[in-house]
This record gives sequence, C-alpha cells and structure tokens, in this order.
Amino acid sequence: MKVTVVGAGAVGATCADNIARAALCEELVLLDIKEGLAEGKAMDMMQTAALLNFETKIIGSTNDYAKTKGSDVVVITSGIPRKPGMTREELIGINAGIVKGVANNILQHSPDAVIVIISNPMDTMTYLALKSTGLPKNRIIGMGGTLDSSRFRYFLSQALQVSPNDLQGFVIGGHGDTTMIPLTRLATYQGTPVSAYATAETLSKVAADTMVGGATLTKLLGTSAWYAPGASGADLVKAIVRDEKRLMPCSVYLEGEYGQKDICIGVPVTVGRNGWEKIIDFNLNDDERALFSKSADAVRNMNNVLSTL
Ligand code: 2OP
Repeated sequence: MKVTVVGAGAVGATCADNIARAALCEELVLLDIKEGLAEGKAMDMMQTAALLNFETKIIGSTNDYAKTKGSDVVVITSGIPRKPGMTREELIGINAGIVKGVANNILQHSPDAVIVIISNPMDTMTYLALKSTGLPKNRIIGMGGTLDSSRFRYFLSQALQVSPNDLQGFVIGGHGDTTMIPLTRLATYQGTPVSAYATAETLSKVAADTMVGGATLTKLLGTSAWYAPGASGADLVKAIVRDEKRLMPCSVYLEGEYGQKDICIGVPVTVGRNGWEKIIDFNLNDDERALFSKSADAVRNMNNVLSTL
C-alpha cells in the first residue's frame, strides 16, 4: 500500500505521523509546496522509526507529484487554516484553487486513488474535487464527520464522566459551526441511550460545544486544531487500506439519499477499499430531518460561491 498526504502543515504532518505509527502502508509520501518542509518533516518522522518500531518508509517531496505515483489513498490537507474568529467558509476563495489543482495533479500520477479531503470548507472542497476530477463518487470522501463525532464523544464523556471509548455518537450534516448536527437522540453509552445518564439541558450543551469544537480550539491555539483532525484523517485511511467496511460519518455525494442531491455533506457511510461504499439511512425524525435540510441549504449556498471565483 502507498499513501500520499498533501500538505505538510500541522494537520497533514499529524495525519502522516498517525499513518506511519499504525503501519498502514509500506510507503508514505508527504508533499508540500514549501521548499524543504515535507522533506524535513518526513526525515524527522523517519528518525522516530527506531523508537516507535515502524517500518513505513516516509518520503518528503517539495511539489514533485511524480513521487506520489501509484498511491492507493491520497489525503488532501492543502490550503490555509482558519484564524481565530474566522469561519471555515471564509477560506473558500484561497482554498478552492489550491484543492482543485492538487486533486488534478494527484490523478495524473495515481489515477486509481481514493481521495480524502480535509481542506476547508470541507464539504464544498469535497464537492469541488469530485466535480473537477470527474472521479466516481465513491472515491472522494470528505473528512469532517469523523472528527466532529470524535469531538462529540469527547464532550459526552466529559459530561457523563465516562470513557469516550464506551460512547457512540454520530455528527452528520455540514462540517461548519452552525451546520453540523450531533445526533444526541441516537448517541449511546454501551448501547443504552445517553439520555438515561444526562439531562436534556446537559445534552444540548454537549451538542453546542461539539458544534463549535473547532472554533474553540482555534481561539486557544491561534490557528486550526491538528491532533484530532490528523488522527481522524488517519482513521479514514485505516478503514480504506484495511477494507474495514466501518460505518463512519463522511461527506459524500448524495443523489437523493437523505432527501438531497448534487451535494457533498456528512452522512453515515461504510468505508472500505473502494472508498465509501454504502450510505446507511438512520431514519431521522422530523426535527433531525429539518436540521439536515437547513444544513444542506447552507452547504449548497457555499457551493454556489464556487461559480463566482
Ligand atoms: C477542525 O474542525 C480543521 O476543520 C478542522 O478542526
């Protein structure tokens, strides 16, 4: 297996680090436009191989896409991260051109790759990558829901004072501060509804904290978060390269599912060697359906900006 991570910034490098530590591939290429950055981070990570006991060969590259040739999975993290006070949506002007260029460069050398998009605004960048490459829809996956759901489980674990590993919970909809939908009704503590362990007020605070989870970190860090986004990207890579068929919330192209079409937005999908394979219908109630439709409207408005750039 060969994996490429494009963008050797905080998110891309963390993603690559997690991929190498988990031995998800034999060869891992880290590529960046900044001279020497990817080579430096790749060498730094390779110098942990003897300590962490992994065999993955990590290769850094300054914009030489020939090195990415034959990748099975490519993670795109390129573009600028948000600064405190900014929304993910404000990044569209700069990131759209970057993501489009990267996706097309990648395909010239890895025509069969599954592409994972992390760049923001993530749902719109996923849609753009799909439209501009013309790839089959199952080979473009937006990573947002996986991260948001991990944050949801974190905030739930804090509220319930239990292990996040004993909690299940999905966040669907757009990957935006106002568009994501933590599915509190369906969240469970080892199979039992979380509503048995926390008041409605506590659970709505958990949902609210989840929605601004990225913004809270951006305020604290002065830039976008990286550990959880990087680990979430690596988790998706794992599900793909190991053909796990795991159920994960990802931004994928809808053609009528969840009442939406011609849009990439977060829904539960199975993920395996072919990319995303099946959309699972969670049978949303009326309130959740209304939130999903509102979220889709916001994502679609953002997609419409693409034609003005
Ligand atoms: C986040 O929510 C980077 O969008 C990403 O942290």
